[in-house]
Amino acid sequence: MRLLFIGDVVGSLGRDTITEYVPKLKKKYRPQVTIVNGENAAGGRGITEKIYKKFLQDGVDVVTLGNHTWDNRDIFEFIPEAKKMLRPANFPKGTPGTGLVYVKVNQVELAVINLQARTFMTPIDDPFVVIDELVTEAKKRTPFIFVDFHGETTSEKQAMGWFLDGRVSAVVGTHTHVQTNDARILPNGTAYLSDVGMTGPYDGVLGMKKEAVIEKFMTALPRRFEVVETGRALLSACVIDLDPQSGKAKKIEAFQISEDRPLME
Ligand SMILES: [Fe+2]
Repeated sequence: MRLLFIGDVVGSLGRDTITEYVPKLKKKYRPQVTIVNGENAAGGRGITEKIYKKFLQDGVDVVTLGNHTWDNRDIFEFIPEAKKMLRPANFPKGTPGTGLVYVKVNQVELAVINLQARTFMTPIDDPFVVIDELVTEAKKRTPFIFVDFHGETTSEKQAMGWFLDGRVSAVVGTHTHVQTNDARILPNGTAYLSDVGMTGPYDGVLGMKKEAVIEKFMTALPRRFEVVETGRALLSACVIDLDPQSGKAKKIEAFQISEDRPLME
């Protein structure tokens, strides 16, 4: 089984990049499941129903979220019906939505789980305790389990990778918007990448207009950050191959597409 995971889509440039490249990437890599983190898709903050539906139209199978999940108020209207959209599973009990979804792949299923870290982030429920329960539950149905771990620090992400090594197919980080160069298969068969990186503006600071960010760092005064809407775009992703019987990872490859690294079709 082959998975394609595309990192944090930021604003309209990110969305247009998905529309343009998902078909090309599907043609090149032929993944069975395509997963996209879309928590910054609406102007950098949150997601709307229209954007969610457009992702599905573009060929995305599952959309994961993160700390910006609730930034667009209309999410509360459509999240109960959005069966292919996940918010972090360790949001407090009673939170709308779900953090685990099963996707049919021929005769088997892939469990996709969205989870959020706590270091330098909102102190929500313990992701280690929650994932332990979810993996036990998912294992009863399938050995194919993908985890998007949305977090700030590489240490918490690495700890999660080791914690789940051999129990899930892959642990891939999101949220920092910068792709890390540490893709590997852990000793017990879990594919690991600290952060897959972002998809959207190539010439901003994590997707935001750079001038305001530089000014804020230089003056320490409050500045309004806006998403870069025009110019060059970047796509960050990884492709993961899983053993068809055991669900263990055989290969993980991280890559980026930009003017500096064009897609070789
Ligand atoms: Fe985030």
